[in-house]
Amino acid sequence: MRIVITRPDDGHLHLRDDEALRAVLPHSARQFARAIVMPNLRPPITTVAAAAEYRQRILRALPDGADFEPLMTLYLTDDTLADEIRRAVDSGFVKAVKLYPAGATTHSDAGVTDLGKCGAVFAEMEKAGMPLLVHGEVTDPAIDLFDRERVFIETRLQPLLERHPGLRVALEHITTQEAAEFVAAAGNTVAATITAHHLLYNRNALLVGGIRPHYYCLPVLKRETHRQALIRAAASGSPKFFLGTDSAPHTRATKEAACGCAGCYTALSAIELYAEAFEQAGALDGLESFASFNGADFYRLPRNKGSAILEKKTWVVPASLPYAGGELVPLRSGEPVSWKLLA
Ligand code: NCD
Ligand code: ZN
Repeated sequence: MRIVITRPDDGHLHLRDDEALRAVLPHSARQFARAIVMPNLRPPITTVAAAAEYRQRILRALPDGADFEPLMTLYLTDDTLADEIRRAVDSGFVKAVKLYPAGATTHSDAGVTDLGKCGAVFAEMEKAGMPLLVHGEVTDPAIDLFDRERVFIETRLQPLLERHPGLRVALEHITTQEAAEFVAAAGNTVAATITAHHLLYNRNALLVGGIRPHYYCLPVLKRETHRQALIRAAASGSPKFFLGTDSAPHTRATKEAACGCAGCYTALSAIELYAEAFEQAGALDGLESFASFNGADFYRLPRNKGSAILEKKTWVVPASLPYAGGELVPLRSGEPVSWKLLA
Protein backbone atom coordinates (compact mmCIF):
# COMPACT_ATOMS: atom_id res chain seq x y z
CA MET A 1 0.00 0.00 0.00
CA ARG A 2 1.15 3.55 -0.74
CA ILE A 3 -0.13 6.96 0.24
CA VAL A 4 0.77 10.23 -1.43
CA ILE A 5 0.61 13.48 0.51
CA THR A 6 1.68 17.04 -0.19
CA ARG A 7 5.27 17.47 1.04
CA PRO A 8 5.09 18.12 4.77
CA ASP A 9 6.66 20.86 6.93
CA ASP A 10 8.21 20.50 10.37
CA GLY A 11 6.69 23.08 12.71
CA HIS A 12 9.37 22.69 15.42
CA LEU A 13 12.95 21.55 14.83
CA HIS A 14 16.34 21.76 16.57
CA LEU A 15 19.14 21.84 13.99
CA ARG A 16 22.00 22.91 16.31
CA ASP A 17 25.10 24.34 14.57
CA ASP A 18 28.43 23.52 12.91
CA GLU A 19 29.32 19.81 12.85
CA ALA A 20 26.07 18.78 14.56
CA LEU A 21 24.07 20.80 12.01
CA ARG A 22 25.86 19.07 9.14
CA ALA A 23 25.07 15.65 10.65
CA VAL A 24 21.31 16.17 11.14
CA LEU A 25 20.25 18.61 8.41
CA PRO A 26 20.17 16.04 5.56
CA HIS A 27 17.57 13.99 7.48
CA SER A 28 15.18 16.91 7.90
CA ALA A 29 15.80 18.16 4.35
CA ARG A 30 14.81 14.75 3.01
CA GLN A 31 11.69 14.53 5.16
CA PHE A 32 10.40 18.10 5.02
CA ALA A 33 10.13 21.03 2.61
CA ARG A 34 10.47 23.61 5.39
CA ALA A 35 11.03 23.70 9.11
CA ILE A 36 10.57 26.21 11.90
CA VAL A 37 14.11 26.27 13.33
CA MET A 38 14.49 26.68 17.08
CA PRO A 39 16.82 29.44 18.32
CA ASN A 40 18.18 27.73 21.47
CA LEU A 41 21.83 27.72 20.44
CA ARG A 42 24.64 28.79 22.75
CA PRO A 43 24.49 31.79 22.71
CA PRO A 44 20.80 31.91 21.71
CA ILE A 45 19.61 33.59 18.51
CA THR A 46 18.16 36.78 19.99
CA THR A 47 18.54 39.20 17.07
CA VAL A 48 17.52 39.33 13.43
CA ALA A 49 21.20 39.77 12.53
CA ALA A 50 22.11 36.52 14.32
CA ALA A 51 19.14 34.73 12.71
CA ALA A 52 20.32 35.89 9.26
CA GLU A 53 23.78 34.43 9.88
CA TYR A 54 22.39 31.18 11.28
CA ARG A 55 20.11 30.88 8.25
CA GLN A 56 23.10 31.24 5.94
CA ARG A 57 24.99 28.54 7.86
CA ILE A 58 22.01 26.22 7.44
CA LEU A 59 21.71 26.95 3.71
CA ARG A 60 25.45 26.33 3.24
CA ALA A 61 25.20 23.01 5.11
CA LEU A 62 22.42 21.68 2.86
CA PRO A 63 23.34 18.68 0.69
CA ASP A 64 23.58 19.39 -3.05
CA GLY A 65 20.19 19.38 -4.70
CA ALA A 66 18.25 19.54 -1.43
CA ASP A 67 14.97 21.42 -1.54
CA PHE A 68 14.55 22.75 1.99
CA GLU A 69 13.80 26.15 3.47
CA PRO A 70 14.73 27.02 7.06
CA LEU A 71 12.15 29.30 8.69
CA MET A 72 13.87 31.25 11.42
CA THR A 73 12.82 32.21 14.96
CA LEU A 74 14.08 34.62 17.61
CA TYR A 75 14.72 33.64 21.21
CA LEU A 76 12.80 35.95 23.53
CA THR A 77 14.62 37.27 26.60
CA ASP A 78 13.71 39.75 29.34
CA ASP A 79 15.69 42.34 27.34
CA THR A 80 14.16 41.85 23.88
CA LEU A 81 12.95 45.21 22.53
CA ALA A 82 9.88 45.96 20.42
CA ASP A 83 12.29 47.35 17.78
CA GLU A 84 13.72 43.85 17.28
CA ILE A 85 10.21 42.56 16.60
CA ARG A 86 9.74 45.23 13.92
CA ARG A 87 13.05 44.21 12.35
CA ALA A 88 11.94 40.56 12.47
CA VAL A 89 8.68 41.35 10.70
CA ASP A 90 10.53 43.40 8.05
CA SER A 91 13.14 40.67 7.52
CA GLY A 92 10.66 38.29 5.90
CA PHE A 93 12.70 35.25 7.04
CA VAL A 94 12.00 35.41 10.79
CA LYS A 95 8.63 33.72 11.13
CA ALA A 96 8.11 33.58 14.89
CA VAL A 97 9.45 34.39 18.35
CA LYS A 98 10.11 31.60 20.85
CA LEU A 99 9.29 31.88 24.53
CA TYR A 100 11.29 29.62 26.83
CA PRO A 101 10.50 30.16 30.49
CA ALA A 102 13.99 30.54 32.03
CA GLY A 103 15.30 27.12 33.06
CA ALA A 104 12.46 25.06 31.51
CA THR A 105 14.58 22.96 29.13
CA THR A 106 17.85 22.52 27.19
CA HIS A 107 19.67 25.87 26.72
CA SER A 108 16.86 27.93 28.23
CA ASP A 109 18.84 29.74 30.93
CA ALA A 110 18.62 33.02 28.96
CA GLY A 111 14.83 32.67 28.72
CA VAL A 112 12.11 34.88 30.12
CA THR A 113 11.92 35.16 33.93
CA ASP A 114 8.65 37.11 34.05
CA LEU A 115 6.10 37.42 31.21
CA GLY A 116 5.12 40.80 32.67
CA LYS A 117 8.47 42.17 31.44
CA CYS A 118 7.60 41.45 27.80
CA GLY A 119 4.37 43.48 27.52
CA ALA A 120 5.69 45.93 24.89
CA VAL A 121 7.12 43.08 22.80
CA PHE A 122 3.86 41.12 22.92
CA ALA A 123 1.90 44.26 21.97
CA GLU A 124 4.16 44.72 18.93
CA MET A 125 3.78 41.05 17.95
CA GLU A 126 0.03 41.31 18.36
CA LYS A 127 -0.04 44.35 16.05
CA ALA A 128 2.14 42.66 13.42
CA GLY A 129 0.56 39.18 13.62
CA MET A 130 3.97 37.67 14.48
CA PRO A 131 3.41 34.26 16.16
CA LEU A 132 4.67 33.53 19.68
CA LEU A 133 5.84 29.93 20.10
CA VAL A 134 5.48 28.83 23.67
CA HIS A 135 7.37 26.18 25.61
CA GLY A 136 4.45 25.75 28.01
CA GLU A 137 5.89 24.58 31.30
CA VAL A 138 6.32 26.36 34.62
CA THR A 139 9.72 26.04 36.27
CA ASP A 140 8.61 26.36 39.90
CA PRO A 141 10.43 23.57 41.79
CA ALA A 142 7.31 23.07 43.93
CA ILE A 143 5.29 21.97 40.88
CA ASP A 144 5.49 18.28 39.95
CA LEU A 145 7.20 17.74 36.57
CA PHE A 146 4.13 15.95 35.21
CA ASP A 147 1.87 18.91 36.12
CA ARG A 148 4.03 21.69 34.72
CA GLU A 149 2.23 22.05 31.39
CA ARG A 150 -1.24 22.16 32.94
CA VAL A 151 -0.14 24.71 35.55
CA PHE A 152 1.55 26.86 32.89
CA ILE A 153 -1.67 27.00 30.89
CA GLU A 154 -3.74 27.98 33.94
CA THR A 155 -1.37 30.46 35.53
CA ARG A 156 0.63 31.92 32.62
CA LEU A 157 -0.91 31.30 29.20
CA GLN A 158 -4.55 32.04 30.02
CA PRO A 159 -3.66 35.41 31.66
CA LEU A 160 -1.26 36.24 28.78
CA LEU A 161 -4.03 35.71 26.22
CA GLU A 162 -6.38 37.85 28.33
CA ARG A 163 -3.83 40.68 28.29
CA HIS A 164 -3.11 40.20 24.55
CA PRO A 165 -6.24 38.73 22.96
CA GLY A 166 -4.92 39.29 19.43
CA LEU A 167 -1.58 37.54 20.04
CA ARG A 168 -1.09 34.57 17.70
CA VAL A 169 0.25 31.67 19.78
CA ALA A 170 1.46 28.16 18.99
CA LEU A 171 1.65 26.08 22.15
CA GLU A 172 4.60 23.87 21.30
CA HIS A 173 4.88 20.09 21.65
CA ILE A 174 1.71 19.67 23.72
CA THR A 175 1.64 16.59 25.93
CA THR A 176 -1.59 16.68 27.94
CA GLN A 177 -5.35 16.39 27.57
CA GLU A 178 -5.62 19.80 29.27
CA ALA A 179 -3.43 21.39 26.60
CA ALA A 180 -5.36 19.76 23.74
CA GLU A 181 -8.67 20.90 25.25
CA PHE A 182 -7.38 24.41 25.94
CA VAL A 183 -6.19 24.88 22.36
CA ALA A 184 -9.37 23.41 20.87
CA ALA A 185 -11.52 25.80 22.95
CA ALA A 186 -9.36 28.91 22.41
CA GLY A 187 -9.89 31.49 19.68
CA ASN A 188 -8.54 30.84 16.20
CA THR A 189 -5.33 32.76 17.04
CA VAL A 190 -4.21 29.76 19.16
CA ALA A 191 -2.74 26.56 17.70
CA ALA A 192 -0.47 23.73 18.85
CA THR A 193 2.24 21.43 17.53
CA ILE A 194 2.39 17.75 18.45
CA THR A 195 5.46 15.49 18.21
CA ALA A 196 5.49 11.95 16.82
CA HIS A 197 6.86 10.57 20.09
CA HIS A 198 4.03 12.06 22.16
CA LEU A 199 1.53 10.47 19.74
CA LEU A 200 3.23 7.06 19.91
CA TYR A 201 4.42 6.67 23.50
CA ASN A 202 3.37 7.18 27.08
CA ARG A 203 5.64 7.43 30.12
CA ASN A 204 5.93 3.65 30.41
CA ALA A 205 8.27 3.80 27.39
CA LEU A 206 10.60 5.91 29.50
CA LEU A 207 10.44 4.07 32.80
CA VAL A 208 9.23 0.46 32.58
CA GLY A 209 11.85 -2.28 32.78
CA GLY A 210 14.70 0.19 33.32
CA ILE A 211 15.22 3.86 32.56
CA ARG A 212 15.37 4.52 28.82
CA PRO A 213 17.09 7.85 28.27
CA HIS A 214 16.40 8.07 24.54
CA TYR A 215 12.69 8.46 25.40
CA TYR A 216 13.42 11.38 27.73
CA CYS A 217 12.41 14.77 26.41
CA LEU A 218 10.71 17.90 27.70
CA PRO A 219 7.86 18.20 28.20
CA VAL A 220 8.21 14.64 29.48
CA LEU A 221 6.00 11.79 28.16
CA LYS A 222 2.74 11.59 30.10
CA ARG A 223 0.25 8.83 31.00
CA GLU A 224 -1.78 6.93 28.37
CA THR A 225 -4.98 9.00 28.77
CA HIS A 226 -3.01 12.06 27.65
CA ARG A 227 -1.52 10.26 24.65
CA GLN A 228 -5.04 9.30 23.58
CA ALA A 229 -6.19 12.90 23.90
CA LEU A 230 -3.29 14.01 21.67
CA ILE A 231 -4.19 11.39 19.07
CA ARG A 232 -7.81 12.59 19.09
CA ALA A 233 -6.66 16.20 18.64
CA ALA A 234 -4.21 15.40 15.83
CA ALA A 235 -6.77 13.25 14.01
CA SER A 236 -9.72 15.58 14.66
CA GLY A 237 -9.24 17.49 11.42
CA SER A 238 -9.06 20.75 13.39
CA PRO A 239 -6.71 23.20 11.65
CA LYS A 240 -5.33 24.18 15.07
CA PHE A 241 -3.13 21.10 15.42
CA PHE A 242 -0.08 20.52 13.25
CA LEU A 243 3.14 18.59 12.95
CA GLY A 244 6.21 19.70 14.90
CA THR A 245 8.79 16.99 15.52
CA ASP A 246 10.81 18.71 18.28
CA SER A 247 13.60 16.49 16.97
CA ALA A 248 16.40 17.40 19.39
CA PRO A 249 19.77 15.68 18.90
CA HIS A 250 22.18 15.04 21.76
CA THR A 251 25.19 12.70 21.74
CA ARG A 252 24.75 9.21 23.13
CA ALA A 253 27.21 10.11 25.91
CA THR A 254 25.18 13.10 27.10
CA LYS A 255 21.90 11.12 27.04
CA GLU A 256 23.19 7.92 28.62
CA ALA A 257 24.47 9.70 31.70
CA ALA A 258 23.65 10.13 35.39
CA CYS A 259 22.02 13.44 34.45
CA GLY A 260 20.99 12.87 30.84
CA CYS A 261 19.94 15.61 28.41
CA ALA A 262 16.32 16.05 27.33
CA GLY A 263 15.49 15.51 23.67
CA CYS A 264 14.41 12.72 21.29
CA TYR A 265 15.97 12.47 17.83
CA THR A 266 13.16 11.75 15.38
CA ALA A 267 14.18 13.63 12.23
CA LEU A 268 15.52 10.49 10.55
CA SER A 269 12.11 8.80 10.38
CA ALA A 270 9.71 11.59 11.30
CA ILE A 271 6.95 11.34 8.71
CA GLU A 272 7.05 7.54 8.92
CA LEU A 273 6.48 7.68 12.69
CA TYR A 274 3.57 10.08 12.25
CA ALA A 275 2.09 7.78 9.58
CA GLU A 276 2.27 4.92 12.07
CA ALA A 277 0.51 6.96 14.75
CA PHE A 278 -2.26 8.06 12.37
CA GLU A 279 -2.69 4.54 11.02
CA GLN A 280 -2.98 3.11 14.55
CA ALA A 281 -5.70 5.69 15.20
CA GLY A 282 -7.53 4.68 12.01
CA ALA A 283 -7.00 8.23 10.75
CA LEU A 284 -4.48 7.98 7.89
CA ASP A 285 -6.66 10.25 5.76
CA GLY A 286 -6.05 13.02 8.32
CA LEU A 287 -2.26 12.85 8.04
CA GLU A 288 -1.94 15.26 5.13
CA SER A 289 -3.77 18.20 6.68
CA PHE A 290 -1.90 17.73 9.98
CA ALA A 291 1.52 17.36 8.33
CA SER A 292 1.30 19.53 5.23
CA PHE A 293 -1.53 22.09 5.45
CA ASN A 294 -2.31 23.24 9.00
CA GLY A 295 1.17 24.51 9.84
CA ALA A 296 1.55 26.35 6.54
CA ASP A 297 -1.86 27.95 7.03
CA PHE A 298 -1.00 29.00 10.61
CA TYR A 299 2.21 30.65 9.37
CA ARG A 300 0.33 32.19 6.42
CA LEU A 301 2.71 30.49 3.99
CA PRO A 302 1.77 28.93 0.67
CA ARG A 303 1.20 25.17 0.91
CA ASN A 304 4.00 23.10 -0.63
CA LYS A 305 3.77 22.08 -4.28
CA GLY A 306 5.69 18.79 -4.24
CA SER A 307 4.53 15.47 -2.84
CA ALA A 308 5.83 12.73 -0.57
CA ILE A 309 5.15 9.04 -1.15
CA LEU A 310 4.89 6.73 1.83
CA GLU A 311 4.91 2.97 1.42
CA LYS A 312 3.63 0.46 3.96
CA LYS A 313 6.91 -1.38 4.32
CA THR A 314 8.84 -2.35 7.42
CA TRP A 315 12.43 -1.17 7.85
CA VAL A 316 14.72 -1.09 10.85
CA VAL A 317 15.99 2.22 12.25
CA PRO A 318 19.81 2.23 12.49
CA ALA A 319 21.24 1.59 15.97
CA SER A 320 23.16 4.85 15.83
CA LEU A 321 24.33 7.60 13.48
CA PRO A 322 27.59 9.58 13.35
CA TYR A 323 27.19 12.91 15.15
CA ALA A 324 29.66 15.68 15.90
CA GLY A 325 32.55 13.51 17.04
CA GLY A 326 30.21 11.11 18.82
CA GLU A 327 27.13 9.06 18.15
CA LEU A 328 23.46 9.92 17.87
CA VAL A 329 20.85 7.33 18.84
CA PRO A 330 17.64 7.92 16.87
CA LEU A 331 14.25 7.17 18.39
CA ARG A 332 13.28 3.51 17.68
CA SER A 333 16.96 2.63 17.11
CA GLY A 334 17.34 -1.01 16.11
CA GLU A 335 13.55 -1.43 15.94
CA PRO A 336 11.12 -1.59 13.01
CA VAL A 337 9.04 1.23 11.60
CA SER A 338 6.10 0.20 9.44
CA TRP A 339 6.11 3.03 6.87
CA LYS A 340 8.90 4.10 4.54
CA LEU A 341 9.29 7.48 2.86
CA LEU A 342 10.29 6.81 -0.75
CA ALA A 343 13.10 8.85 -2.27
C1 NCD B 1 15.05 20.44 23.35
C2 NCD B 1 16.55 20.57 23.03
O1 NCD B 1 17.28 19.62 23.29
O2 NCD B 1 16.96 21.61 22.50
N1 NCD B 1 14.84 19.32 24.22
C3 NCD B 1 13.67 18.64 24.40
O3 NCD B 1 13.61 17.77 25.26
N2 NCD B 1 12.61 18.89 23.66
C4 NCD B 1 14.55 21.72 23.93
C5 NCD B 1 13.05 21.83 23.94
O4 NCD B 1 12.42 21.93 22.90
O5 NCD B 1 12.46 21.81 25.03
ZN1 ZN C 1 12.02 21.90 21.09
